[in-house]
Amino acid sequence: MSPARSDGVRLRSHEWLLGRDELGFQHRGALRQLGLDMDGYVGQPVIGIASSWSELNPCNLSLRVMAEAVKAGVRQAGGIPLEFPTLSLGEDLMKPSAMMYRNLMAMEVEENLRAYPLDGVVLLGNCDKTIPAQLMAAASADLPAIQLNGGPRLAGSFRGRRVGSGTDLWRLWDEVRAGRLSEAEFEEVEKALYSGPGSCNVMGTASTMSALAEALGMMPAGSSSAVVNDKQRYATATAAGARIVEMVKDDLRPSAILTPAAFDNAVRVLLALGGSTNAVLHLLAIAGRALVPLTLERIDAASAAVPCLVDVQPAGSGLMEDLHAAGGVPAVMKRIAQWLDLDARTISGRSWKALLSEIVYAENETIRSLDRPVAPAPTLAVLRGSLAPSGAVLKVAAASRDLHRHQGPAVVFDTYAEMLARIDDPGLEVTPDSVLVLRNAGPKGGPGMPEWGMLPIPKKLQQAGVRDMVRVSDARMSGTSYGTCVLHIAPESAVGGPLALVRTGDRIRLDVGARRLDLEVPEEELGRRRAGWVPVESPHLRGYPLLYLKEVLQANEGCDFDFLRPRSESARRFVGPVVGRS
Ligand code: FES
Repeated sequence: MSPARSDGVRLRSHEWLLGRDELGFQHRGALRQLGLDMDGYVGQPVIGIASSWSELNPCNLSLRVMAEAVKAGVRQAGGIPLEFPTLSLGEDLMKPSAMMYRNLMAMEVEENLRAYPLDGVVLLGNCDKTIPAQLMAAASADLPAIQLNGGPRLAGSFRGRRVGSGTDLWRLWDEVRAGRLSEAEFEEVEKALYSGPGSCNVMGTASTMSALAEALGMMPAGSSSAVVNDKQRYATATAAGARIVEMVKDDLRPSAILTPAAFDNAVRVLLALGGSTNAVLHLLAIAGRALVPLTLERIDAASAAVPCLVDVQPAGSGLMEDLHAAGGVPAVMKRIAQWLDLDARTISGRSWKALLSEIVYAENETIRSLDRPVAPAPTLAVLRGSLAPSGAVLKVAAASRDLHRHQGPAVVFDTYAEMLARIDDPGLEVTPDSVLVLRNAGPKGGPGMPEWGMLPIPKKLQQAGVRDMVRVSDARMSGTSYGTCVLHIAPESAVGGPLALVRTGDRIRLDVGARRLDLEVPEEELGRRRAGWVPVESPHLRGYPLLYLKEVLQANEGCDFDFLRPRSESARRFVGPVVGRS
């Protein structure tokens, strides 16, 4: 076995481990502490296994077993596996929002790759923000990398019917609020939905980002949709361990995979999946790290053609296990091949054209044909207008068709707490035509853009049978959510975007066909309001939240930190440490 890359270049880890001086002694000694036989060390590749396993994040509990399978594969291929823990971002428990910590996790993973003698890495994530954070780190570090996920959790059942994480929770909570489901029954739902480890089993953000990691070419094809305990999942992990050793030898890096074509493919897969709006933010952020000029305009242009074909909640009715049985992401890609760049390369070293040529799948009801989509194009729309000069996003596939063109009076909530306190007040002046507005919920206002964008329907309207209303905010919404919710308004209200100037009673006009979101208030009046606008003071005066507030970019740029995005190829270069005395 050759210890070096195929082109004869020394490996990064050799700077630490091959020296015959006291530093080489010290570095090899650190690995002997792990019980490794360094007598047999001849320069084998050292592979990091970055694991976001954590009991704070039950969605990621399967990653410990997966890490063992990856290690077995690395060893089989002659590499040295070193597993290390990283920050984990548990969507259910982390406040104010796991999104606020995505950039911190990306920094932590990147800095681990920079600081330690690693030649390649296998990234283990699952819950919503963990995979985007790891991909951002991989794009910045540009060491050979494979992304794996932990898999969706098994379906629970309530009253003999399978229930999907998140989507059924929101649906059944509406039933409780409308008085049609008792609290005791709702507790049964809780037990059914949280049936064990694994990510949400619908097309929420975790499933979407795992699927897009495949489409980007960074995750083994067909692996992401396998449920958490699928036997094939562990075989895939072992194969990934062996493959990363080969990738190090071939010097196959993310920069050769995360190309403009890869991002265009991922956007089209997102549309066909009816995937999470959060993916727009994450793709923009990962592309920013890779110096790929992805924009909201480019995403919107793609949305004009590609319909939603995948019948999985919330856009459809099935669960992730149905998608896996139907052939998973490769089958979806084969279905929309006419819109994809199949020359894009993957971690396998092969192009999508080669990979898809081997895919055979039977016609099925989960991945629909183009003439029978779950929802026609556009499934996602980028809106602009006087209320969203830099853009906003609407998941059209999850919005009511009769609200695509709508005009109504605003009912404004300045904060999430105020909204919760007032939304069910019988005295709230609101009709089904009203437009519910939430502000101070964006990247800086939240902070971290919490998933508050699916504002609840006021109880009195819900009890009268209203199921959807137009809602607008600078927040995000869970990928498992639905409704006519305009999200990610940029610039956000906390930095003085027009959303900050809306008053209750102002008319707001939504026109999805024209891709417009407008505040029907004369510019002179807005000018007067702007002159008197005072930003809300943030309670965060120190630490990471203060860094976040200072550096976070707006939603139309993916909410990365300004200083983490390279501005040129030379700035992108990953500078490793000078190996010397620490
Ligand atoms: Fe973790 Fe949904 S809460 S994947």
